Amino acid sequence: MPILIDTIDDATARAACARQAHRPDALIEVLHDIQRTTGFVSDAAIATIADALNLSRAEVLGVVSFYHDFDRQPGARHTLKLCRAEACQAAGGEAVARRLEAALGGTNNAIAIRSVYCLGNCALGPAALLDERPIGRLDPDALIAELTASGALSGTAE
Ligand code: FES
Repeated sequence: MPILIDTIDDATARAACARQAHRPDALIEVLHDIQRTTGFVSDAAIATIADALNLSRAEVLGVVSFYHDFDRQPGARHTLKLCRAEACQAAGGEAVARRLEAALGGTNNAIAIRSVYCLGNCALGPAALLDERPIGRLDPDALIAELTASGALSGTAE
């Protein structure tokens, strides 16, 4: 028997909304809270947020879809944000990005690569952010070697 999404109440989303006192203008904070806690924003979370913040589901989904920070499916174990803005492009960022996408693009849910546009680390371009760790003067081969050695690509060790 199919489960109707209307009957699902996402406890994580409900708690995130409560922490923001159910303020509709705190939608972004609620979504970041859920993304941090669960790694993605599910259909049930969207329905629950809409109910708790008195917004339409379309409004919530619109925000989730607009920002690259929110995933709609369970995501990769690590996120690598590559800066593609001008200063990093001038420092060779596009070649670095191509090398990393070629090497890591098929690593089976280990690393999600995302393009971002300025990380505020322009003087040390090409710049990146691996999970929460800033990386300047990004050397793709050194990063690949580090990820391999740490087991991040295989999920064996960290
Ligand atoms: S342009 Fe890349 S960090 Fe600013």
